[in-house]
Amino acid sequence: MTKPVVLESVAALRQWREAQRKAGHRVGLVPTMGALHAGHISLVTGVKQVTDKAVVSIFVNPTQFAPTEDFSKYPRTFESDLHLLSEVRAEAVFAPQVAEMYPQGFATTVSLDGPAKVELEDKFRPTHFSGVATVVSKLLLQAMPDVAIFGEKDFQQLAVIRHMARDLDIPVEIMGGPTLREADGLAMSSRNVYLTVGERMVAPIVHRTLQAAAEIVRRGMPLAVIEAEAADRLTKAGLVVDYVAIRDALSLAVPMECAAPASLRILVAASLGQTRLIDNIAV
Ligand code: PAF
Repeated sequence: MTKPVVLESVAALRQWREAQRKAGHRVGLVPTMGALHAGHISLVTGVKQVTDKAVVSIFVNPTQFAPTEDFSKYPRTFESDLHLLSEVRAEAVFAPQVAEMYPQGFATTVSLDGPAKVELEDKFRPTHFSGVATVVSKLLLQAMPDVAIFGEKDFQQLAVIRHMARDLDIPVEIMGGPTLREADGLAMSSRNVYLTVGERMVAPIVHRTLQAAAEIVRRGMPLAVIEAEAADRLTKAGLVVDYVAIRDALSLAVPMECAAPASLRILVAASLGQTRLIDNIAV
């Protein structure tokens, strides 16, 4: 089991990337904020199937957290992350400090429209996606990967990044990786560690509610009624619902009532105690 090489500066990352290019290797990038779980590891495995060398970035990006959010308490588990990445044979880890990514005087952000402005996450975390898009565009330009992979659990994030890479002509293939779930259906997330034992028992209702809603959409009930009933079920279970929304799976726009079920995605965000859970499902 060889440990991945740890790169801490953009210069070191560029040097590593250049060596891969000279050797004729295709490079896959897996952007993460660390606290890795099986979901992240499946992204590494996924990108390794279509490239020769995988670099995983581990960077808790301050600009995507609002001042009221969990930046300072976000789990940081670097040593165990490295261990997991050794097991799955990631070749490199890019782990910059904040000052390396945002040196003094940093003054540029990516401004977004389209799938970043559809009243889902953007409504509840208005500064989030410009922080994500800025750091992801930096990571893409630093690592110049052939492929970059992002989890479908953050479905709106994936749509925003695809759109941004296309609009800015960043020469990379953006790949989505399926959501991994615990045995009871709870979507894997680094934030699940915040759940108390009692909350952890309640949390799978999010996935169960999505599954039930998808089934009813397929049978053809009015979408607004399905959204309201799903939100009501979650509220009764003790969650505070930000949204349950049935959207076009590509644009994330509100679909026409006559849209083909297969073109739809159901997205949910709800808090359970201090933990905000998000999830989504294809119809
Ligand atoms: O999904 C995440 O973990 C983050 O938003 C990302 C894409 C690594 C950017 O910081």
